[in-house]
Amino acid sequence: HDFAIEWVACCDSTNARLVDAPPTDDGRVHVLVADRQTAGRGRRGRQWLSWEGASLTFSLLWRFAPGTPAPAGLSLAAGLALARALEQLGVEGVQLKWPNDVLVHGDKLAGILVELLPMRGRPPAAVIGIGLNLRLPADAAIPDQAAVADLGGALGGEPPSRPALLAAILGEFHRLFETYAVAGFPALRGAWEQRNAFADLPVAIRGESTTLCGTCAGVDDDGALLLRTGDGVQRVLAGDVSLRPL
Ligand code: BTN
Repeated sequence: HDFAIEWVACCDSTNARLVDAPPTDDGRVHVLVADRQTAGRGRRGRQWLSWEGASLTFSLLWRFAPGTPAPAGLSLAAGLALARALEQLGVEGVQLKWPNDVLVHGDKLAGILVELLPMRGRPPAAVIGIGLNLRLPADAAIPDQAAVADLGGALGGEPPSRPALLAAILGEFHRLFETYAVAGFPALRGAWEQRNAFADLPVAIRGESTTLCGTCAGVDDDGALLLRTGDGVQRVLAGDVSLRPL
């Protein structure tokens, strides 16, 4: 896969740009990086806040070739690619929180938002948006008492430059697309589960209107979370996972 990279100073949301106005298909994976976003999108309708220079925010548009396995596990696979890139850069304690947050020692270092574009009669395309915290201001107002981490803290020093980080991450996405295109998420599931932050732990999963409780029993070949409850193992397709205090 070849990448076409566009780097802009500011936009509303790199995901929104690629979803609303996808570049013409020239066979390449299009990447849009923004120094700053004015309306960053998070998962489940949330906002993604960022502070000037404090993060690396970009999106990739990947068009599925005919015959590519269903995009069901793609958002988990994207988390795995990012985790691997960070590990290569020397970050220790990288884990994945279903479906695709990247944690370091339990705190959120990066978030991913995957949006699928239906392509009328053709295989779909996916916009994969990544927000990676580099150096959060000490006084950053972080909502919901979310526990966050940044790359500077995780590496104990100055993080690599954003172009260098982007190159490392795109290298892993290149590998990911190669594997995914032929074998889909089943080929990546084991590597995802090795980094599962909640493996065998008691969790609560908050959905739109219900909360499910159980023990995290990994993920299936479609990327659904497996929750062991008194009634057996349930597949969970969406929700926010948190540790359930015993
Ligand atoms: C989440 O954790 O809820 C997902 C956050 C995803 C944020 C990134 S930043 C680049 C891309 N553009 C967006 O508007 N969102 C994603």
